[in-house]
Amino acid sequence: MRILGIAGSPRRNGNTDLLLAELLKGAAGKGAEIKTIYLNNLKMVGCQHCDACLKEGKCRIQDDMQQVYAELEQADVIVLASPVQFSGPPAAVKAMIDRCQCLWARKYVLNTAPLSRERKRKGFLISVGARNMKDMFVPTLGIVKTWFHVLEVEYAGDLLLSKIDEKGAVLKQPDALQKAFEAGQKLAEG
Ligand SMILES: Cc1cc2nc3c(=O)[nH]c(=O)nc-3n(C[C@H](O)[C@H](O)[C@H](O)COP(=O)(O)O)c2cc1C
Repeated sequence: MRILGIAGSPRRNGNTDLLLAELLKGAAGKGAEIKTIYLNNLKMVGCQHCDACLKEGKCRIQDDMQQVYAELEQADVIVLASPVQFSGPPAAVKAMIDRCQCLWARKYVLNTAPLSRERKRKGFLISVGARNMKDMFVPTLGIVKTWFHVLEVEYAGDLLLSKIDEKGAVLKQPDALQKAFEAGQKLAEG
């Protein structure tokens, strides 16, 4: 069982990073192999809409997104940790998702598998935001569920926390950290 954590925040050791680390700790304790990618450390551009992938089924742009494609391929579980920024995911998360246009092309244009179908993948979302508004996670949920759907990743659940703003504020919410830990355990159990 290989679990890929994708840390989407530009703030290292911020709230979503802490929750992701806790989830992965829970998963590792159950024997899962874990890996974290920090999107903010990668050099990548968003989709350039060159349409090369409609013929080739892969992205022509040779940047750090190529590592992410390889990690997505190898993962049994994908956990995206994405703070809310202007109601949606941060730019790096959206760039990574848009670069999965080549996986969309494989599926809907070339009629092949977006990722190898030898694994049945699951996906989980961690998101936090400062505000306390009804529906504050709706835009992120729409984008992430679309992404998982295209990749044929089953939506396995989420941990969505409002009223969390300062760096490390989530540490004052042991319940939330415990929920992340338990989600990791559950994901590792399959
Ligand atoms: C550029 C920017 C935009 C933000 N926009 C929102 C927003 O629309 N809604 C919200 O609830 N919080 C918003 N926030 C607050 C963050 O979601 C909040 O601080 C969160 O705890 C950050 O998580 P992190 O430490 O993992 O980066 C924004 C923060 C930044 C830096």
